[in-house]
Amino acid sequence: MSQLWEDWFPHSAKTLLLSALPNLHTTADSAADPLQTRLLRALANGQRVSGAELAAQTGISRAAIWKRIERLRQQGLDLIAQPGKGYQLRHPVDLLDGDAITFLLATSPTSGIDKVEVHWQLDSTNSWLMHGYQADRSGTAVLAEIQTAGRGRRGRIWRSNIGGSLTLSLAWQFERGMSALAGLSVVVGIAVIDALTECGINGASVKWPNDVQVDGRKLAGILVEVGGEAQGPCHAVIGIGLNIRLDPATASEIDQDWTDLATMTGSSLGTPSRNALAAAILASLSRALQRFERDGFAPFADDFARYDALLGRELRIIGSGGDSFGVASGIDARGALRVRSDDGKDVLVDSGEVSIRTT
Ligand code: BTN
Repeated sequence: MSQLWEDWFPHSAKTLLLSALPNLHTTADSAADPLQTRLLRALANGQRVSGAELAAQTGISRAAIWKRIERLRQQGLDLIAQPGKGYQLRHPVDLLDGDAITFLLATSPTSGIDKVEVHWQLDSTNSWLMHGYQADRSGTAVLAEIQTAGRGRRGRIWRSNIGGSLTLSLAWQFERGMSALAGLSVVVGIAVIDALTECGINGASVKWPNDVQVDGRKLAGILVEVGGEAQGPCHAVIGIGLNIRLDPATASEIDQDWTDLATMTGSSLGTPSRNALAAAILASLSRALQRFERDGFAPFADDFARYDALLGRELRIIGSGGDSFGVASGIDARGALRVRSDDGKDVLVDSGEVSIRTT
């Protein structure tokens, strides 16, 4: 069974506690299709619900329920229909809950996050924050249950499915200029791994500059987009996509080796609550960003050495000037990758310039 936030913390207790936390705000938009959301909420805990019960709980006719069940299936949910008995999700879904994430964040020691927005559907959480960026967006976290145009690095599409992925972005303002942001994507990768470890998920590593991998398979991707001045105030929108339980149709569209938390933990054990994961990632990220702003990249070098998926691997570096080869030998104090060529010389490779393949 997946862990569900609602099982840990009933709604009444949540409302009471949130009213005592005035500095954090949660917003949630109305769903793209409120009836479909209502239907999913009624099924989310994985119990079987009869057609009649669903109709009574959601106010939807039984014919309309059937139509929406089909739509949820197309969106990647594994829904079992048992004639005469009802409908059931094969795996419970911990639907994103802004109040739950806000509450968990507020209980973590330091958080520079002051707003959590949960959307049912967006084109991309990164695009949402980047569009018309204003400095007061700093500290805003945005999550979407569905991304219709999720973006990856190098113009790729980021694939995700309803209930089976975590797609979130955080806006952050920096005062020391874009040139001081070298190494930021590595810092984000480390923060994600720290959060996974806190949630009991071990064994992830960073493939420089910013993939989170397990045994060479991608578990999470990071897209950092920056704007502002080279030497003055600037901002970053940090997007993270984490595979939790990818459905076969979504997975078949991914053109690289991938994994998800369900595969890592084994199907019988289930996956951690998505709300708990989101809060852990945001809290870890916020701590890392505050440290990075204060002390730069250097303090993260040791963490990276522990999580370095490429160390000692033979690489092909695909750059605009052609391919080159060498052996990965860690990073420098700014977060650039050190590659030892055949003649024993170290070459430094900056992120963004290249694509890395292990040979
Ligand atoms: C990559 O590995 O190529 C980066 C993937 C980043 C995906 C995340 S999902 C949340 C945020 N919104 C996006 O459109 N992309 C990032």
